[in-house]
Amino acid sequence: MALNSSLVGTSGKVTFESPSNIALVKYWGKYGRQMPQNASLSFTLQNAKSITTCEYEVLEEQQEKIQLTFNFEGKENDAFANKISKFFLSIEDIFPWIRQIKFNISSENTFPHSTGIASSASAMSALSLCLCTIHEKVAGKLDDFFQHASMVSRLGSGSASRSVYPHLAQWGKHPNISNSSNEFAIPFGDEVDEIFKGFHDDILIVSKKEKSVSSTAGHALMDSNPYAESRYKSANENMSLLIKCMKEADLETFIEIVEREALTLHAQMMCSKPSYILMEPNTLEMINRIRKYRNETKIPLCFTLDAGPNIHLLYPAKYASKIDGFIDNQLIEFTQDDSIIRDRVGFGPQKTNS
Ligand code: DP6
Repeated sequence: MALNSSLVGTSGKVTFESPSNIALVKYWGKYGRQMPQNASLSFTLQNAKSITTCEYEVLEEQQEKIQLTFNFEGKENDAFANKISKFFLSIEDIFPWIRQIKFNISSENTFPHSTGIASSASAMSALSLCLCTIHEKVAGKLDDFFQHASMVSRLGSGSASRSVYPHLAQWGKHPNISNSSNEFAIPFGDEVDEIFKGFHDDILIVSKKEKSVSSTAGHALMDSNPYAESRYKSANENMSLLIKCMKEADLETFIEIVEREALTLHAQMMCSKPSYILMEPNTLEMINRIRKYRNETKIPLCFTLDAGPNIHLLYPAKYASKIDGFIDNQLIEFTQDDSIIRDRVGFGPQKTNS
């Protein structure tokens, strides 16, 4: 689709900061065009963010190739530029103007590179929010900006669909959640007790090594996993149970479900064909210590994991100083180079210029 000729030569710049998120009910397994096999729910984080700036200029006509440069943390990065060009071509049905724009994109993360922290959710959501803003400048207003941004983010990386809302986000069709959809995530912060909006997430970095099996490969292995169907069913059941206990601020049940979800995710990896293990001995040591500390102190802290060995320690804000002491005395020695990223439930993306 050619853009209105009066726009030719116009240019602008948009910057979005968008956070990472941590799933409580995990998305693991997908089909078709980035559709999830089960519903998922996540906390939006506050500190682990990508900051992405897109400079754009409207060209005279559609180009054969995507016109794009990409600068990551101060350096031209051709490998990322190629990935993004491919992504842009794959969403031409959504943004038919995308080959008539020249993009200079730069991006950085607030969390250090190579800490094993996946940046696809923050990076893809920040980029998609920029694209939706450019769409409104050149092609007209979107009916629901954040829903559209969530849908575009999903196409870049499934979990990114959940990063565009404050506090909590839910993604994937679920019989008990009206408005839920496989196409985009929906905001979910208002559906749970206030206590969860203050939750902390301290990310204990067990290993900074690149994962032996990427998430993309891990999702694909679910297609031949003999336990896949029962996993998808139990994830959806856990979603119902988790929502109920989060409404009631029933932390005991919350802890039970969140930890079981994390371990079930890793159990799927262990029974994939071929099988693989992403947890490390130090991951298990920390899990045992967290459970022991919880039994002894009755402090409602729990762990979750993403597709890697790092521990996400989740707990209500009021226990922060006690848990700092617990980390220093009992957990820090099991991290690589004393690496911790201290994060908490956050307010969602922010546009920092127009
Ligand atoms: C274990 O969203 O990274 O973190 O859609 O292939 O980009 P792609 O995968 P991705 O998978 C995330 C998996 C997870 C669980 C979750 O975030 O729900």
